[in-house]
Order: sequence, then C-alpha cells, then structure tokens
Amino acid sequence: MTLSLDHRFREGDPDAPALLLLHGTGGTPDDLVELGRVLSPSSALLAPAGPVSELGMARWFRRLAEGVFDTEDVLRRTVQLAEFVLAARAEYGLTGRLVAVGFSNGANIAAALTLLRPDALTEAALFAAMLPVPESPEHDLTGTRVFLSNGEHDPMAPRDSADRLVAELEKRSAEVTTHWHPGGHEITPAGLRAAKSWLTSNP
Ligand code: MLT
Repeated sequence: MTLSLDHRFREGDPDAPALLLLHGTGGTPDDLVELGRVLSPSSALLAPAGPVSELGMARWFRRLAEGVFDTEDVLRRTVQLAEFVLAARAEYGLTGRLVAVGFSNGANIAAALTLLRPDALTEAALFAAMLPVPESPEHDLTGTRVFLSNGEHDPMAPRDSADRLVAELEKRSAEVTTHWHPGGHEITPAGLRAAKSWLTSNP
C-alpha cells in the first residue's frame, strides 16, 4: 500500500511505544531521529515529511504570517495526517502506544491531532508548541496524555498561546504535564529529560 505522505520508518521493539516524529518548519523526516533514539532507544520510528511548502520549506499547514495560522488548512492537514497515521499503523503493524514527538510547527500539528482526532492520536510530546486552532470540538479526551516543554522567552511560541493550548486540553480531561524552561524556541536537555521521564511513566 502507498501511504499518503512521504516518510521514513524504522522498526522497533513492539513492546516500546512507537514514535511519530514531526519536524519543524523547513525540516525533514531525519531531523528528530536522534531525539527519538534518546527518548526511547528501542522504539519504532515513523517520520513523515510535512506536505506543505512555504518557499521550499516543508511544513504541516499553511500560515498567513509567523504565528498566524490558516485555520482551514490546519483542519484539512490534520485530517490528512490522521488518515496517514491510521494507515501507517495498519501497514506497519503498530498496534500498541503511538506517541507523537513534535517540534515547533510539528508540535502544533501534533497538538491539532490530539484536539481534533483522538481516534488517531492520544499521546504527544510537544516542544515549543502553540494553540493551533482557535476553536475545536469538545471531544472527551480522557486517556489522552500530553507533555509540553516550552520556553518562557520563546518569541515564536508565546506563553499565552501555549497556556491556552494546555487549558483547552485540560478542559477536555486530557492529562497534561508541562515543563517550562528559561530559554526560547528550542529543545533543551532538561526538557528532553522531562519528556523521557513522562514517556516512561505509566500511561
Ligand atoms: C508555526 O508556524 O507552526 C509556528 O510559527 C512555528 C514555526 O514553525 O515557525
């Protein structure tokens, strides 16, 4: 079967959670492989490529300006990624936990998946994330687990937007773990350690 998004897949231990790696703007499926290995060395890795091009840079959805998203496109691309995830699970026999790991624009599409498509994704580790859609249906997200690591001084993912994302998730009964660091738009070693401990704590 041909899956709808270009991607890399590396097999892993079926008892370890599979990781869905979602790169940031201008990234590639290879970007987060090392991070995935650090987070969970034996995990299967599923790493698609963002299908939208912004001046040649791969992204997950269109934006009108930095931090201003094209909501219709976010909704459309969230459906596209959800369908890819469901098809890839079947194709590669990923029947256990699947945890999205996203940075920046990849964290934002992962956040959209958790809010809009809990049938496709119930666990996500988000680095430098924002609220991706102004409004979303009030799905019951009991059982959804989200880890968020953001910088207090991130000019691209302002605290207010990340706080709103956390509030929207918690309002729907998702379990959210936050890790705030003093830096900016980046993944810090402390954030990575916190994500690892969240990933290995009992779901
Ligand atoms: C986004 O567009 O998703 C955010 O502004 C972060 C970025 O990718 O630059």
